[in-house]
Amino acid sequence: MAESRDGAQAQSTENVVMYHPSKDLVENANVTAYMRSKGLSSYDELYKWSTANPEEFWADQANELEWFQTWDKVLDESNAPFFQWFVGGKTNIIHNAIDRHVKTWRRNKLAMIWEGEDGSSRTYSYHTLNREVSKMANVLKSMGVQKGDIVTIYLPRIPELPIAMLACAKVGAAHSVVYGGFSVEALADRMSDAQSKILITADGGYMRNKVIELKKIADEAMARTPTIQNCIVVKRTGHDIAMESGRDLWFHDLMSLPIASPICPTEEMDAEDMLFILYTSGTTGRPKGVVHTHGGYQVGTHTTLKFVFDLKEEDRWWCAADPGWITGHSYIVYSPLLVGATSFMYEGAPNYPYPDRWWSLVARHAISVLYTAPTAIRGLMRFGDAWPNRHDLSSLRLLGSVGEPINPEAWRWFRDTIGAGECPIMDTWWQTETGHFMITPTPVVPLKPGSATRPFLGIDVDIVHEDGTSCAPDEDGTLVIKRPWPGMLRTILNDPDRYKNQYWEKIPGMYNAGDSARRDKDGYIWVIGRLDDVIKVSGYRLGTAEVESALVSHSAVAEAAAIGLPHDIKGNAIHAFVILRAGFEGSPKLEEELRAHVGHELGPIARPDEIKFVGSLPKTRSGKIMRRVLKAQALGQDVGDVSTLES
Ligand code: PRX
Repeated sequence: MAESRDGAQAQSTENVVMYHPSKDLVENANVTAYMRSKGLSSYDELYKWSTANPEEFWADQANELEWFQTWDKVLDESNAPFFQWFVGGKTNIIHNAIDRHVKTWRRNKLAMIWEGEDGSSRTYSYHTLNREVSKMANVLKSMGVQKGDIVTIYLPRIPELPIAMLACAKVGAAHSVVYGGFSVEALADRMSDAQSKILITADGGYMRNKVIELKKIADEAMARTPTIQNCIVVKRTGHDIAMESGRDLWFHDLMSLPIASPICPTEEMDAEDMLFILYTSGTTGRPKGVVHTHGGYQVGTHTTLKFVFDLKEEDRWWCAADPGWITGHSYIVYSPLLVGATSFMYEGAPNYPYPDRWWSLVARHAISVLYTAPTAIRGLMRFGDAWPNRHDLSSLRLLGSVGEPINPEAWRWFRDTIGAGECPIMDTWWQTETGHFMITPTPVVPLKPGSATRPFLGIDVDIVHEDGTSCAPDEDGTLVIKRPWPGMLRTILNDPDRYKNQYWEKIPGMYNAGDSARRDKDGYIWVIGRLDDVIKVSGYRLGTAEVESALVSHSAVAEAAAIGLPHDIKGNAIHAFVILRAGFEGSPKLEEELRAHVGHELGPIARPDEIKFVGSLPKTRSGKIMRRVLKAQALGQDVGDVSTLES
């Protein structure tokens, strides 16, 4: 078994059972219809054609959407790696996600169904969603928000979150959503980097019936961010909070003003104009603001949802991620609306108040396609089969997984217990940077549990050595993408050099995903895990650098190192090693204080499981902490080559 730096282990690829799709599924799949329209007779042929003619393939897909003005050029590679898609095209993702639907019978179709943790629910047809988004867009305009501005959004999982995102896009402003589980430092850093003038937040959010004090966190973060002029506050919990006069405004007050008219024209944008930034953890330093644009992103997310999860008009789709992460941006908010689907969103924890909460949601809302993460599947699996078996889950027809490699045991439980042994699992590999699915089955592809199977149509993937030469079958290497794709990140906000160096120059001319993987003899790809200092905790991406910087911001800490160690449910858990400043002594009390400090600065997901007080840290002669050595020691493994270790 091969192992990655973050502790994930690749499954053995020998003797894996293949799961073949039913004839019915293949016959009726959206992708089969497309294949036939091209006069081709197999998915293999379609894949070959799409990668031999990527521009024709993506132009076909772009033509499924409406454009104010069509593009002059599908792909412009003249300033590589700053690729541009649908150059000269005029569009706005909101036109395709909302405006074009409300002109048809779909205006009365449900766009979004939301259920709160307390059992309350709200529904939005395309018509009502359009009204809410337009009202909010007018509010933003009246507050001076313009094309090119970046609005920061820090909200719990409530309908106002997608509404705020869509309203920004409608007026041509970019949104920067900060996940509601993040805390003060994380929020302040992101607001400053984006130079946001407006923050949209809530008085609080609910998680397991406890109030998360979002406004308090926002107040502390705003105090560290001088660019902020106004804060719009959504009332969710209704408990007492501080409102700063002149700066803070209630969302419901603004939405009841005459300026909040339900009619608002959608701003015409260039295909390459910025739609949003989303911060993600990298190898070093501060999180990077990944930039996505209107044109390519709408084509990529629309195509992948339509072909991979095979969405049909009558489906009820549930992507159980948080809208604050890329999975939620692409597959809760944008692509379900682009395909005209009904998207379900749930506010709370999967096991609240009982471990069958999710299964009761599936049964009550007749969910037909459920997309989630291995960590959630493992977490629910441990409660046993009796919980799901109490519910009628027969509405489900397809399941999906994302965020980290799924272990075959969890895969089989998901298919057999949740999917009645019949629902195929679409294991989708992609990243914040890629914008949409990159390696994934479609319903016509035979599955192997634990493998994301094969590259999506039009996507050229390889596994390579450090010099860029291809690895042999079953050999571990670096996962790269050899050709640009429409939903790719365009740059890193304020740091184009980092975009170039990090993704395109390490292995010249190829996009380096930062993952290790192997391809088996059947061409199936097995992703092993991160190659860099990124830790995946419950599928969330955290940089060791972020956790370390939160630790050293505590007055007792001189130096810190963080690593990920394998964990049964979370995939990885954070372990930290800390050198204290003179005058401080390690104790269980201080350990708890430091864990709470990281929680306060970054958020609960970043809180280390364990902190060890040490006298020194293993370092290279140039002073870099050798986390690999710490990890091997913690796992009781051979520490390997330490010839560069400082002596
Ligand atoms: O290591 C891979 C893992 O998640 C990373 C991307 O994280 P993030 O940008 O937070 O996006 C997560 C959701 C798209 C990848 O570099 N990863 C994601 N999906 C899979 C996966 N690893 C294995 N199998 C997957 N299906």
